[in-house]
Amino acid sequence: MASQGIITVAYLVAGVLFIRSLGGLSKQETAGGGNLSGMLGMGLAVIVTLVRWLSDDSGALAVPGASGLGLLGGAIVVGATVGSVLAQRVEMTGMPELVAILHSFVGLAAVLVGVSSYLSPHAHSTDDAERIVHLVELWVGVAVGAITFTGSVIAWGKLRGSISGRPLLLPARHALNAVVALSIVGLCVPFLSAPSVAEAGSFGPGMIYLLVMTALAALLGVHLVMAIGGADMPVVVSLLNSYSGWAAASAGFVLSNDLLIVTGALVGASGTILSIIMCRAMNRSIWNVVFGGFGTEGGTPATATAGAPAGEVLELSVAEVAAKLKEARSVIIVPGYGMAVARAQGAVNDLAKKLKKLNVEVRFAIHPVAGRLPGHMNVLLAEAGVPYDTVHEMDEINKDFPRTDVVLVIGANDIVNPGALDDKTSPIYGMPVLEVWKARLVVVLKRGKGAGYAGIENPLFFHEETRMLYGDAKKSMDALAAAM
Ligand code: TAP
Repeated sequence: MASQGIITVAYLVAGVLFIRSLGGLSKQETAGGGNLSGMLGMGLAVIVTLVRWLSDDSGALAVPGASGLGLLGGAIVVGATVGSVLAQRVEMTGMPELVAILHSFVGLAAVLVGVSSYLSPHAHSTDDAERIVHLVELWVGVAVGAITFTGSVIAWGKLRGSISGRPLLLPARHALNAVVALSIVGLCVPFLSAPSVAEAGSFGPGMIYLLVMTALAALLGVHLVMAIGGADMPVVVSLLNSYSGWAAASAGFVLSNDLLIVTGALVGASGTILSIIMCRAMNRSIWNVVFGGFGTEGGTPATATAGAPAGEVLELSVAEVAAKLKEARSVIIVPGYGMAVARAQGAVNDLAKKLKKLNVEVRFAIHPVAGRLPGHMNVLLAEAGVPYDTVHEMDEINKDFPRTDVVLVIGANDIVNPGALDDKTSPIYGMPVLEVWKARLVVVLKRGKGAGYAGIENPLFFHEETRMLYGDAKKSMDALAAAM
């Protein structure tokens, strides 16, 4: 039905489309095209894999029995339905959770592929060297898959608040991790010399070693992510993204599927790069995130501590803020997670348009970890129709705050916390932040005295140039636009 040559070319085209997709997704202007390339690549990959499955070694059509087709059709229908319903329903604020749970599926798939490949007599070569290579690939795939699966489920639970964001710091946890990791590697030796499934049956010693290792890897995944605090979850999700890529690549080796190897490697490498970029944005090392136990309960109000900032918090009314904005020549808007929660991006854009009509220079300042996922704010602003050329990254715009009349901080907290620069006791000390307090006036829009994701107080609110505008960000923005 399809020659190996055509399949190889189709896989190559799909691989190129995936690379174009990643390239396109790196900029807002090209993100739509990037998405389209990814969809075309995935569509092509699914079709070619189906054709390959339906062909025998000579390339002739070899339709499997009704039960095989039924299973395949059922899997496609269930997968496509669940995927499209989830994609339509998910809120932008729930995206990290969705990403985390999808990674867990990749991990689980890698485990299932590995175990079923071990059980399949066709997958075993009679050549000893080939057999050992295959078993090692399978072992690695199942180990990475199991860590990814349980780690992602825990990350999902922490992100949605069903599991505490507080890091679980067991005594001697590093030694515990090391022992489990060494056992996973060590058990591979008896696994390789165990009699095959054909000789010992499905539940022979080899299968037992494989299942024990799977359980150990699953425990390692749980423990590694439980030890990481809520504030580091974005990096963890990105790391798990890269693990899911490596798990998929290992499954590709097990199944001898070149496209799965290429795609897995692309996801693995891009996830690793993204994790490193995010760590740099927080001024943390990746090892510090993975083993540091940093972070606190996500989103809970900060409690006053001995070193907590003190002083008076001053408020302004909507009419007073509107008056200040009318007098201003330059305004910078800093969106944060609260803007996403309030879905205020449209109202923010309306206000920006009104200010521009009054000849006020309006720009947006984006912190690399604003919100709850990479590019969160850029996506929301693009959705609201904010022109790309008014959206600036932190490094570009930080120097402009001293010559800015008004900064509107909309539902942002940690990313504008001056303690990150000068308070060595702060859990976010060292994280670069938007230096909004250097402007002539800073207006912070939030509902009350709630802390940000890191759960800490923000001295910005006590700063002499800071004024609070309390209320839901969407309602406050609508009221401001009306008052303008
Ligand atoms: P946060 O520090 O989480 O602060 C958000 C603020 O929004 C809260 O203080 C909250 O105060 C306010 N808020 C919530 N709902 C609101 C509403 N409806 N209207 C108005 N205000 C509302 O956000 P951020 O400044 O964007 O910082 C991001 C934080 O999340 C960082 O610590 C970062 O490390 C972490 N993080 C980032 C990512 C990525 S990759 N972006 C992923 C996960 C976590 P009130 O309750 O008083 O209103």
